Amino acid sequence: MSAFPRSVLAEDVQARAAEVLQELLPDLLDLGLLLKQAHWNVVGRNFRSVHEQLDDIVDRVRTATDEIAERIVTLGSPADGRAGTVASASSLPAYPEGFVSTTETIECVADRMARCGRRLREGIERLGDLDPISEDLLIAFTADLEKALWMIQAQEVANPREAAHA
Ligand SMILES: [Fe+2]
Repeated sequence: MSAFPRSVLAEDVQARAAEVLQELLPDLLDLGLLLKQAHWNVVGRNFRSVHEQLDDIVDRVRTATDEIAERIVTLGSPADGRAGTVASASSLPAYPEGFVSTTETIECVADRMARCGRRLREGIERLGDLDPISEDLLIAFTADLEKALWMIQAQEVANPREAAHA
């Protein structure tokens, strides 16, 4: 049941689209949190560039998460971004405690971004039949996240010339 008196989509369709978005919200909020954790606690070689790169991704993830949460509400459902919901519903593995080396940081962050990307693509599939506007929102963010994943994980690839001579 929509919270608002007028809607463009059929009520059951918009409720189902909102449900798909809500299922993604805990992962996205968790991703924003763990990227900040990584930003604060990264140590070692290339500290500065990894530290700053992580904050850039945090901004993009948080902006997109806000858009997705507001789309849920636009569809007439309440968005649930409470800490308890994030803790119980996020599908992302916990981020390691304490200081983390740049190498391990890149690996941990990239794994979780890739997982989020896969879940977003599942959401895109499911929204295809329900709501192209919500689908479009996810497509735009997924493209941005996949680009950020490239930029993070490119750093862990060994020198291709050295690998060819090994
Ligand atoms: Fe900072």
